[in-house]
Amino acid sequence: MRPTIVAANWKMNKTLQEGKLLTLEIMSWLRAHQREDLKLILLPSFIHLTTIHSLLTTELPLELGAQNCHEKLSGAFTGEVSSAMLVSAGAKYVLVGHSERRICYQEQKEILASKVSIALEAGMQPIFCCGERLQERESNAQDAYIETQLLEGLFHLSAAQIEQVIIAYEPVWAIGTGKTPDTKDIKEMQKSIRAAIAKYYSREIAEEIKVLYGGSCNAKNAKEFISIEGVDGVLVGNASLQATDFLQLLDAVCH
Ligand code: PGA
Repeated sequence: MRPTIVAANWKMNKTLQEGKLLTLEIMSWLRAHQREDLKLILLPSFIHLTTIHSLLTTELPLELGAQNCHEKLSGAFTGEVSSAMLVSAGAKYVLVGHSERRICYQEQKEILASKVSIALEAGMQPIFCCGERLQERESNAQDAYIETQLLEGLFHLSAAQIEQVIIAYEPVWAIGTGKTPDTKDIKEMQKSIRAAIAKYYSREIAEEIKVLYGGSCNAKNAKEFISIEGVDGVLVGNASLQATDFLQLLDAVCH
């Protein structure tokens, strides 16, 4: 069975107390619903990981990830957080290549490729974000643009390594804007992502790899997205921040 993945990217939101409260509400929803076909991943701030991790219990399908990691193993990088630190704080996943990091922090291909490798070495599964900007979508250049992002950020990995990666297709123009692509475009894009993986690795790996959709996903549209063939789940920003919104989204996904 392929579980539906719902990953919640809290970004730079939530105090520790708010994060704990939200986690406890999500945990009671999970206890009440007992869904074995669902896997939740919370992506809080670095400094919340340890505390939130201490709330989790293994019988609930709820795991933790980080929003970023450093591209080097360790060393004199004041203010940075390494993958090994994240693993020791309970993170099993880490976002790499989110468009906010690509745009606001100029994270380039070499850095992203290195983050992916370092995260895997430390034992985390990278959630690698890719997505076209409006200009590529308008000129119908999205497939080539995303293949390049995958090539530069991921395709240095071995076959065994790439199987550990989750890919999140997040069109930049859909993030935080309330705009979303047509379901047919998302279906085409997950196909195109899998075709690129088949080209560089194998058809089997292309079929096995998990592909999520992200960008203005909410309780109203989540079910539609997860029902698209080849879409394994969603990466949610804004709609994961308030318990009412997020639990409604989970309800929608499960009905
Ligand atoms: P959004 O963010 O759901 O607020 O559009 C998604 C993301 O940035 O991963």
